[in-house]
Amino acid sequence: MSEHKVYPVPESVAARAHVTQAEYEAMYRRSVDDPEGFWAEQADRFLDWFEKWDTTLDWSFEGDVHVEWFKGGKLNVAHNCIDRHLAEHAEKTALIWEGDEPDQDQHITFRELHEQVSRLGNVLKERGVSKGDRVCLYMPMIPEAVYAMLACARIGAVHSVVFGGFSPEALKDRIQDAEASVVITADEGVRGGRKVGLKANTDKAVDQCPSVHTVLTVRRTGGDIGWNDSRDVWYHEAVEAASADCPAEPMDAEDPLFILYTSGSTGKPKGVLHTTGGYLLYAAITTWYTFDLQPDDVYWCTADVGWITGHSYLVYGPLANATTSVVFEGVPSYPDASRFWEVVDKHQVSVFYTAPTAIRALMREGDEPVTKTDRSSLRILGTVGEPINPEAWEWYYHVVGKEQCPIVDTWWQTETGGHLITPLPGATELKPGSATRPFFGIVPALMDTDGHVVEGEGEGALVITRPWPGQMRTIYGNHQRFVETYFSAFKGCYFSGDGARRDGNGDYWITGRMDDVLNVSGHRMGTAEIESALVLHDAVAEAAVVGYPHDVKGQGIYAYVILVKDAEPSDALRKELVNLVRSEIGPIASPDAIQWAPGLPKTRSGKIMRRILRKIAANELDSLGDTSTLADPAVVDELINNRVTG
Ligand code: WT7
Repeated sequence: MSEHKVYPVPESVAARAHVTQAEYEAMYRRSVDDPEGFWAEQADRFLDWFEKWDTTLDWSFEGDVHVEWFKGGKLNVAHNCIDRHLAEHAEKTALIWEGDEPDQDQHITFRELHEQVSRLGNVLKERGVSKGDRVCLYMPMIPEAVYAMLACARIGAVHSVVFGGFSPEALKDRIQDAEASVVITADEGVRGGRKVGLKANTDKAVDQCPSVHTVLTVRRTGGDIGWNDSRDVWYHEAVEAASADCPAEPMDAEDPLFILYTSGSTGKPKGVLHTTGGYLLYAAITTWYTFDLQPDDVYWCTADVGWITGHSYLVYGPLANATTSVVFEGVPSYPDASRFWEVVDKHQVSVFYTAPTAIRALMREGDEPVTKTDRSSLRILGTVGEPINPEAWEWYYHVVGKEQCPIVDTWWQTETGGHLITPLPGATELKPGSATRPFFGIVPALMDTDGHVVEGEGEGALVITRPWPGQMRTIYGNHQRFVETYFSAFKGCYFSGDGARRDGNGDYWITGRMDDVLNVSGHRMGTAEIESALVLHDAVAEAAVVGYPHDVKGQGIYAYVILVKDAEPSDALRKELVNLVRSEIGPIASPDAIQWAPGLPKTRSGKIMRRILRKIAANELDSLGDTSTLADPAVVDELINNRVTG
């Protein structure tokens, strides 16, 4: 079986890597034996502090749960990502923007980045934004998205980036929850040759958001947009008129840096709150070791800034290390399936980080679109977002990387700020499909259903037992929900929501979510959110949504819909439901399959047995398990007989 394959560390990689296997073992030991000593040293090494902290760590994973790193320390994230590099790297390229069309690109130096971010910081201040205020970003993948994040950080404002694929409704919810006063957007985004009306969406959302007094719009396409004199401002006009002198605000290490909304198993998306010092340190150190950064790297993470990967590994991690980071506006399939590799050659990319869903989609197009490119600049390959199947791993390794590039399969979450379990190129033997070993300072454990620790080889719920600098501090505006969501399932532990297996060598294999969270093309989605959207329709009485295995997306979305009496199933209704989900959440949440169901398998106490729904959607009919406790076991046969294929 391919999962027993092992790829040892190539000697050439180990020879110049930051850590070898022995060094990893020693450093890991130290990081867990003396975490405060270890992290204090790293904080000095990776970051520039205006003032030293008083206490390295104060924490409790029980009771009210609190985690504070480097309290009393003063620093600024934009200063760390830009200003401190100016002495030596002012003319180094900080960002390479690659547009949707292959003939569009732009290089931005650290000096230019400094100027753009400072001007925008002053624009925000002139509009009344001060320390602690929330600014919402709803932007395409253009340099201004990075400027905006860093401008907020520079003046101490808290950004909340909302993925440009979310609907006006979803945008509105996020703006309202954070009570943002400013939204930064663009007239239109462009992806794969298609335009997305970001300003039009923003207008719809903001009309219902009394907290917003200013919308700053970047002119990206020049397309027609609506204009409201009382709140609309052109980005370019405001930035040109602003001063380029904007001192970086000294922030406490525990001051909020950003909010990022993510889906859970229940209710509305949660505003994950990350703070300044610990987050930046963790983003910086993981970028450094996981990708074994070298000074002349051209580093390309294909994630959108609307996700945590875009925050930690496109903006903060690379820039804190003065690394050149590629910002790609387009999609892997446009103009054709060679695009990724054409861009790698064009910009001589050395570190490339993408999602398994993209790899699987490209793998379907065959080898030729890859092999016709050169790719000899590549040194390290990474994946993130969902478990990578060994077949896709092997293709990535052999065809894309020509067997020259270690693959780092990085397991982490929006909540964790950075990588928790990942290989390090010079230190870790690779096993296709395994995220392998914990990063420095990370102490994972597996728990059985009784809440006991699984020792040695085995499987269980994946928890983290000790604090680490990059972890989220709270859910914005709802600390109780934070405690309940992450710290109530296993006493004294952070529960990730994922299951995992540990093999005989101590390597971890993530088995996927144990809760009702889906992972569709690396996008995280709560089944409850999609269900709430479906039941908004007058014809729908009840809905249950589950994931099922999908060749390219990893998971597809399967919806069981029960209609109200008198409503008739039809293709037209199916389309209406899909459109409803698109307008409530966004295209990424569109159901792949909708089954008209006569009822749902429920226990006598009325609880939906989702396990059975998942099995039916996956067509795993032999392993339905015990259905005798159901209130109406006959419903299961009806569901099986009317199964639809997504
Ligand atoms: C969930 C977190 C981490 C940034 C992108 C997604 C799944 C993530 C892996 C991996 C197996 C993975 C987990 C996790 N996941 N990376 N390498 N192997 N599963 O962030 O939206 O917060 O989703 O993605 O299920 O819980 P996210």
